[in-house]
Amino acid sequence: MRMKLLSPVLKIYALAAMLPCLSVKSAETIQPGALWPDNRGQHIQAHGGGILKVDGTFYWFGEDRSRENSFQRRYVSCYASTNLAQWTFRNQVVKLADPEQLGRGWILERPKVFYNAPTKKFVMYAHLDNGRYQFARVAVLTCDTVDGDYQYLKSFRPLGHESRDIGQFVDDDGAAYLIFEDRPNGFHIAKLSADYLNVEKEMCLIPKHMEGGAVVHYDGLYYVIGSELTGWNPNPNRYATAASLAGPWSEFKNLAPVEKNTYGAQSTMLLKVVGSKTTSVIFMGDIWEPQTQWDSRYLWMPVEIGGGKLALPEPHEWTLDIRTGAAQIGK
Ligand code: GAL
Repeated sequence: MRMKLLSPVLKIYALAAMLPCLSVKSAETIQPGALWPDNRGQHIQAHGGGILKVDGTFYWFGEDRSRENSFQRRYVSCYASTNLAQWTFRNQVVKLADPEQLGRGWILERPKVFYNAPTKKFVMYAHLDNGRYQFARVAVLTCDTVDGDYQYLKSFRPLGHESRDIGQFVDDDGAAYLIFEDRPNGFHIAKLSADYLNVEKEMCLIPKHMEGGAVVHYDGLYYVIGSELTGWNPNPNRYATAASLAGPWSEFKNLAPVEKNTYGAQSTMLLKVVGSKTTSVIFMGDIWEPQTQWDSRYLWMPVEIGGGKLALPEPHEWTLDIRTGAAQIGK
């Protein structure tokens, strides 16, 4: 085709047709299930993660499953962002060697970081276990800075119970809670001690077997979500509500149509973003790739929430205006 024979309008159409990959996506678009490059162009390694906000910056902590990691150590990485879409790698904040002689295949999963104002310490909880998941304890690590090298402090069974998947919840009044899955009994929501180094008080035991537990406090109601126990395979995640953390909790309902299996994801956190105009709640989930863990993806979507209902919409690209709190889902 000889362009100079075309009118200016036709030239634009011809150019567009020659560039079919031209994308109108902005750098601030969140793409569920896609590779999510950090500022170095590397896929973010923060699986089973959690978010801590400090002075207007969000810090995302999670399992670093990089292919080149030593098989003897377990790693947690930390990334920073001010818009939740573009993330700067800060540090591999944990590079831990088997701290309790758990042996080959030991695990450190689902790290969650809290900031304790009285002691000015950053306190990390994680699931610590042996390769057969029989140790069932939490590990506690601390650091003086948000993205420094976290030091291993201890491990224990919260309130004496088995603990595998954990979740974190900080209420609007600043109180900090650990959610933990206790195989014989169900899952617990328990308050941390004043220095956050212990799990002190049980708020409730929900007698259901659910993992990937997360809680959000929205418009006067608590919403708890969790997944079934199907290991790395996705299942229909569900939610319940209560006026108080102590319950009583409503019946559990599906977050999405059952046959969608949570669109391949497993819950890890519900993140509340309060803006000048509105409040958005973001479902953070993991799409696990058990054979190639470094390639596991993230499914983050703003949920439909209110009046005791919670729904995870079908995943599409979306953007968030961090100032107003408004999320916009693409087509
Ligand atoms: C999942 C759990 C993950 C990991 C996995 C191992 O159910 O949520 O964190 O422990 O099992 O199979």
